[in-house]
Amino acid sequence: MRLEYSGMPLPIPWYVKFGVKLALGSVPGAKQCLPKLLPIFRHGPAGDPVYCRDVFLAHFARFAASYAGAANRNEIHILEMGPGYSLASGLLGYLFGAKRVCLVDVGKYAAMEDEFARRLIDRLESLLKTTEENPPAADLSPAGSHLKEILAGGTTSAKAIRQRITTLKAKADIAGFLFENVIDYRFEGLQSLRRLPDASIQMVFSQAVLEHVARSEFSQVLSELYRIVEAGGVGSHVIDFKDHLGASLNSLRFSERFWETGLVYRSGFYTNRYRKSQAIEMFESAGWQVSVVSEKRWDCLPLSRSRLHEHFQKLPEDDLLCGSLTLLATKPTSV
Ligand SMILES: C[S@@+](CC[C@H](N)C(=O)[O-])C[C@H]1O[C@@H](n2cnc3c(N)ncnc32)[C@H](O)[C@@H]1O
Repeated sequence: MRLEYSGMPLPIPWYVKFGVKLALGSVPGAKQCLPKLLPIFRHGPAGDPVYCRDVFLAHFARFAASYAGAANRNEIHILEMGPGYSLASGLLGYLFGAKRVCLVDVGKYAAMEDEFARRLIDRLESLLKTTEENPPAADLSPAGSHLKEILAGGTTSAKAIRQRITTLKAKADIAGFLFENVIDYRFEGLQSLRRLPDASIQMVFSQAVLEHVARSEFSQVLSELYRIVEAGGVGSHVIDFKDHLGASLNSLRFSERFWETGLVYRSGFYTNRYRKSQAIEMFESAGWQVSVVSEKRWDCLPLSRSRLHEHFQKLPEDDLLCGSLTLLATKPTSV
């Protein structure tokens, strides 16, 4: 099962995608229309309820195991950075007892179809059923293990989740109910974060998003998240360091002067190209306490150093071999 997104696995050479996306990305209005027409322009596999469920459960399990703040766990506020085409975390957050789920992106890409909401609920119900049958841990999927951990941790109970499922299923308009009571969808990126009150969020998470935050804004975004999250609150982030053209290191072939232009930023494959050690350092500079949960690494460099731009050629091996990283960032309770 794929929990991470790094571009569609189409057998198209990276440089063809590069050219097509660069050209089409500069057409006015293309950013709104193209994702509907071509999968290579979509922000993640958001139409798949199992993907959405599993991503949420992995992040929520990390929160449930690490939260050290003062809020009642049944009344937490969640912030998802970069939901892309899905508001699934609004629905799942509600089912797991969150009072509010704020979703911040840089464009209004997502909507919640009733049919999708009901499929998402079904997928959670079936996982709940399997998990409650209490099979040996080894027989559970990663998502089943996460659900089991959450239920064992006491953040919410299977009974409470079922009650909320019943409430939601009875609604004629699930999205309408969630927008009125739970979801706070904002789409002005850093500006949206700046408008959120201090210490108002207990859990922030992102899935394949932080690598897309503009280089010029990255440290400000991390500082804003730190300000918004309550002491003892938790950040859970999956960062995809692969290029979003061929899941390799092709993005490191280019100079900063070319890469940091509006043309590349609008292309859909823009990543800020920060590597593992830089990302961790910037989290720490913003005040976060960081630990690496897991990491996916290449066995050897997917692209030889000589093909990289000189700016990246001397980077440590450890940085270049890291394809993706799951980080747990906590806000200390006392500074
Ligand atoms: C690859 S998509 C991932 C979408 C979703 N998280 C998923 O797993 O399917 C990256 C998302 O990050 C968003 N993004 C980029 N810069 C952002 C920023 N500064 N603040 C919030 N979201 C941002 C993009 O608009 C896009 O929706």
